[in-house]
Amino acid sequence: MTREHAGRIAFVTGSGRGLGRLMAEKIARRGADIVLHDLDFTAPAKYGEAKDLGEVEAQFAEFGVRTTHVTGNIGDAKAVAAMRAHIEETLGPVDILVNCAGGDIGAAGGKPVPNNALDIPLEDVQALVNNNLVGTITVCKEFIIPMRERGSGTVVNIGSVAGHLGVSDGAIYAILKAAVAHYTRCLARELTEHGVRVNCVAPGPAKTARFEATREVDPRRMDSSGKSFDRYAEPEEIADAVAFLTGRDSKFINGQILCVDGGLICWPS
Ligand SMILES: NC(=O)c1ccc[n+]([C@@H]2O[C@H](COP(=O)([O-])OP(=O)(O)OC[C@H]3O[C@@H](n4cnc5c(N)ncnc54)[C@H](O)[C@@H]3O)[C@@H](O)[C@H]2O)c1
Repeated sequence: MTREHAGRIAFVTGSGRGLGRLMAEKIARRGADIVLHDLDFTAPAKYGEAKDLGEVEAQFAEFGVRTTHVTGNIGDAKAVAAMRAHIEETLGPVDILVNCAGGDIGAAGGKPVPNNALDIPLEDVQALVNNNLVGTITVCKEFIIPMRERGSGTVVNIGSVAGHLGVSDGAIYAILKAAVAHYTRCLARELTEHGVRVNCVAPGPAKTARFEATREVDPRRMDSSGKSFDRYAEPEEIADAVAFLTGRDSKFINGQILCVDGGLICWPS
């Protein structure tokens, strides 16, 4: 693997666990200095993936890059500004931004109940809007404006195939991921003259610890042999697509939504 990102600084939100952690690893392997992030210091422990963010950061020593970590709610503009201040003081300005923090996470920290379009409690709607849309926009405002000033940068937003299908379970989450996809297109358009490109990866269901802990999984779709495409994604398959979109092999790809789902959204299930 080439160290094509050597000298760059990458900030992956929600990288204390799950898909974000693997995305950060793939980008670190390409030589970028890494900023890890989570809601709070112990969020990586929630589904048993690590003791805390410090332990995750220590695991990055093997990649031979500089690291730091920040914590805070991505929907809180003051917290996000403090993240940027810390990152610029410790490592420097961010060149690669991956907006991975989010999920079908309601006000109490788990999936909303009920979780459809009409019966979902309003406090869960507000939490979902914060965790998925306002949070992504807040982080983009804070980190992309400096990229625009410097005339360079790469951004990958994490959507979901749920944002491209009509769903009854997780309806508000799906609506917000559709908004993240369209925000990506609008941002890419706005930045065409400024050297910053913006794309979106829309994962299909992927076998993260939270995914497995918060629903009844279909054992037939857990198969990892790679023969069938009718299965849950391996987290690595999502992270590979993100790494591709941060790299020079994708340098003329802009404003796109890349579904990483084995073809799921192409045909009725
Ligand atoms: N796993 C899947 O099947 C799947 C499918 C499609 C899309 N996604 C998306 O991929 C991303 C990662 O999901 P995952 O499965 O790894 O889940 P995860 O819960 O393991 O990771 C999400 C991370 O985001 C953080 N986070 C959530 N809201 C936050 C907030 N408001 N402020 C700061 N941090 C916050 C969490 O603490 C966690 O570290 C999410 O955006 C999710 O919507 C996941």
